[in-house]
Amino acid sequence: MKDNDSVPVVELRDARKIYRMGDEDVHALDGVNLQIRAGEFIAILGPSGSGKSTMMHMLGFMDTLTSGKLIFEGKDVSGVGAGQRAWYRANRIGFIFQAFNLLPRLTVLENVMLPLVYSRVSRKEAEERARQALSRVAMEHRIAHRPSELSGGERQRVATARAIVNNPGIVLADEPTGNLDSKNVRRSLDLLCSLRDDGLPVVMVTHDLGVAKYAGRVVEMRDGQIVRDYLQDGLRVPAEI
Ligand SMILES: Nc1ncnc2c1ncn2[C@@H]1O[C@H](COP(=O)(O)OP(=O)(O)OP(=O)(O)O)[C@@H](O)[C@H]1O
Ligand SMILES: [Mg+2]
Repeated sequence: MKDNDSVPVVELRDARKIYRMGDEDVHALDGVNLQIRAGEFIAILGPSGSGKSTMMHMLGFMDTLTSGKLIFEGKDVSGVGAGQRAWYRANRIGFIFQAFNLLPRLTVLENVMLPLVYSRVSRKEAEERARQALSRVAMEHRIAHRPSELSGGERQRVATARAIVNNPGIVLADEPTGNLDSKNVRRSLDLLCSLRDDGLPVVMVTHDLGVAKYAGRVVEMRDGQIVRDYLQDGLRVPAEI
């Protein structure tokens, strides 16, 4: 792990997101300060509606702040337009959604190749890199399957392969273990831990305290604010999974 003086991969400074609903303002993010460094595995905890997904959307260039700053890889990107945000999403962000969002008509291999379609690599190289990512998550034996022909744990692994195929600067996972049984939860955490060990920062939203225990750092949110941010000895994933 890098020392704490390293430049954060991503940083939020006094980040605010206000949704205007009729004549009521919803302060979904209410002055968030957060620095995320290479090699960190961060669990985001907090009650429903506390702003976890909103924060992930900001970190992942899926939405823009009302005020405050987003610094990504040392650059102030708070004001960038839709085109540049799309570039960052395609090239620098690996997103794993709870529902995995795999496209049902595409095969496993095609699903994992998809992010590369937007980043100007040849089809041959895209396929090669997708195969590597699938082998990383132990799914190379299912490349011709469609998502409906996979188990929940396998879908999760394909979604993880798709998230890393672009060599992103950070992996963002919103409830990645929400739909899995305990064996696949451990397997999926093991995979996220191995990404962290390779130096990739991993940010994971979870409702599950047991899942949060695997992260080295826990950030708790309430009402759009970070109310606790602490380091812990991340649990080791049992070798037998
Ligand atoms: N597009 C939107 N328009 C208006 N309000 C929104 C929008 N998205 C989120 N909100 C509100 O912002 C607040 C934070 O929502 P967010 O989705 O970030 O919560 P969360 O912590 O992810 O909750 P959960 O654990 O239920 O997923 C909530 O009060 C929600 O109703
Ligand atoms: Mg959410």
